[in-house]
Amino acid sequence: MQKSYIWSLPTRVFHALFVLFILLAFLSADEDRWLNYHAIIGYGVLILLVFRIFWGIFGPKYSLFKDFSIGKQNVKEFLNNIFEDNQKYIGHNPLASYVMIAMLIVALLTVITGVLAFGIQEGKGILSSWNSPFFKEMELFKGIHEIFSTLFLVLIVAHIAGVLSDRLLHKKHETLNSIITGYKITNDNESVKLNIFQKIFAFFMFILFIGFLLFNFYKPNNILVSSIYKTIDYQTQNEVFVNECASCHTLYPSHAFA
Ligand code: HEC
Repeated sequence: MQKSYIWSLPTRVFHALFVLFILLAFLSADEDRWLNYHAIIGYGVLILLVFRIFWGIFGPKYSLFKDFSIGKQNVKEFLNNIFEDNQKYIGHNPLASYVMIAMLIVALLTVITGVLAFGIQEGKGILSSWNSPFFKEMELFKGIHEIFSTLFLVLIVAHIAGVLSDRLLHKKHETLNSIITGYKITNDNESVKLNIFQKIFAFFMFILFIGFLLFNFYKPNNILVSSIYKTIDYQTQNEVFVNECASCHTLYPSHAFA
């Protein structure tokens, strides 16, 4: 047995950022006043997904989609040998591969329906011109967005359950630690090495991601979140009313009575 370098640095950084941003997305989902942050976080997830999809096409061996051992035969064989200590799958096992693919697809659909809900229902973001009062009432897109995010939650549970049961059954491969270290214990040396193209691509995507966050930090009202509606500062319109009465009454904008 020996140590093999299975998960390259970009793969692990992607994983850590994906965990963080999915967590932030769920935490920011419930409050209206955090909606813009929620949208930015969603776009961040989208950048991560774009990276992961390219990484699955020309990344290192175990990150490639073609290394995902799906198929009925593989699943059957994996389940038949699941209690064996020595596992032949070095990257994702067949069940894990299904969960990975489902996670990528559901995350992508969650982002897309989020952008639709944000534009059509809220009049915000790149699809703000599609805003329609009819859909705002109906909350159709928000509903679909929530179905996908709930589905994603189910996949997270499946993913964690998979990792933990792997920890119990195949402890010696050190899969759990490999999330952080990148190293697994294998029979032969199965290490990956990034080529220069992969390194440049990963570096570029990382810079893009950080640049995206900085851009939103310095220009918080950019096209990704800007609204077709003008915000009205009631405080400057009628300060006394806001202070004395607005805790119970709504202040209508003065032009509504003109
Ligand atoms: C603590 C909550 C609260 C605050 C603060 C408050 N109101 Fe009210 N107001 C009410 C309630 C409750 C009613 C009764 C609504 C009803 O009868 O349907 C009401 C009724 C009214 C009405 C009568 C509306 C009608 O249809 O007859 C007026 C006018 C009004 N408020 C003005 C004000 C103004 C001006 C202020 C600020 C100085 C203010 N209110 C502050 C709770 C509040």
